[in-house]
Amino acid sequence: MTQAVILVGGQGTRLRPLTCNLPKPMVPVLTLPFLEHVIRNLKEHKITDIILAQHYLAESIHTYFGDGSKFGVKLTYVMEESPRGTAGAIKNVEQYLKGTFFVLNGDIFANRNFTDMLKTHRKNKAKATIALTPVEDPTIYGVVETAADNRVKRFLEKPKKEEVTTNYINAGTYILSRDILAKIQAGAKVSIERETFPQLLAEGAPVYGYPSTDYWMDTGTTEKYMQLHRDLLAGKCEGYRFADDLMAGVKIKIHNSVVGTGKVIVGNNCFIAAGVVLNGPVVIGNNCAISTDTVISDTVIWDNTEVGSSANLRSCVIANDCLIPDNMSLNGVIMGDHIKPKPGGKIAAGARLFPAGCEETTP
Ligand code: GDD
Ligand code: MG
Repeated sequence: MTQAVILVGGQGTRLRPLTCNLPKPMVPVLTLPFLEHVIRNLKEHKITDIILAQHYLAESIHTYFGDGSKFGVKLTYVMEESPRGTAGAIKNVEQYLKGTFFVLNGDIFANRNFTDMLKTHRKNKAKATIALTPVEDPTIYGVVETAADNRVKRFLEKPKKEEVTTNYINAGTYILSRDILAKIQAGAKVSIERETFPQLLAEGAPVYGYPSTDYWMDTGTTEKYMQLHRDLLAGKCEGYRFADDLMAGVKIKIHNSVVGTGKVIVGNNCFIAAGVVLNGPVVIGNNCAISTDTVISDTVIWDNTEVGSSANLRSCVIANDCLIPDNMSLNGVIMGDHIKPKPGGKIAAGARLFPAGCEETTP
């Protein structure tokens, strides 16, 4: 049985203020934790023995997912005392790995055909297979040059513009043969992108690319997080195509005439008052209340948030436990958790509001 290691050690700094009090894997996508989508995708391909390599705010992941049995998988949590880097993190879970295994960057949203990828890996008799995806700007990724048969010739992490020779990049999903672990130094900080892959290629090891033009999104920034929701509700990702315009959870009270244009998802236990207009793409999490005559467009709201009456929200992300006062107008605002703006106050378009104790950092 093929196993998977998910790298969930990053701090999610660029997703702040959304990740001030929540690790990146728990950030909700369509009302479910990001990691739950990844686990479901693995399970669809019968990959149920999953190891989470982590070191940051791990408790909330454990509280939600437990041993994985509720999700039909077996989860093993391995903590690093200090960040080991992408290869160091894999080395750190060596004792749990039995044979050829998958590695997933924990911040990638894709609906991957792991079965076909594994078939290709075996057919190529590869030591490593790297999923590839085309992007517009390869310089912020790992660029992977391949030959006509997809054998990898060169791996270049975060290249300069003039070094870019292809727009196919490392999509952050690998299949590795277990003997590669012997090449990674134990107890050290090692990067699979900057050290292990270049070393394997220098030694002439059979490393193959697995290119695909299927939907792929890295959710590293708040802009990409928004874009992911727009794409999913526009039906751009296989497996996430919705027939209905309004998808609502349980114990919800929705009054008349709430849906304008575009698709809308409302989580469980929400109250949507009369006269509210939701112009999709809109996602509202669990336990939220939206008061009369408020208009919400192109916006993602997490859990336990209340929006007053006659408010107007456009292209915003509002995290957990916020309280938006009556009549407030918000445009392109990213609001961290537990924020309660003053009634009558004005918030600038594009503002990022940080919860107490969480500083803004330059990416
Ligand atoms: N456990 C653990 N320990 N995980 C880590 C560590 C660590 O020390 N460092 C990073 N990770 C995890 C992150 O949480 C993330 O899921 C994944 O490893 C990749 O790290 P990022 O920090 O997100 O790297 P990146 O986005 O700049 O680049 C990577 O992803 C691109 C695709 O999105 C590289 O793999 C690129 O080559 C690739 O193109
Ligand atoms: Mg990343």
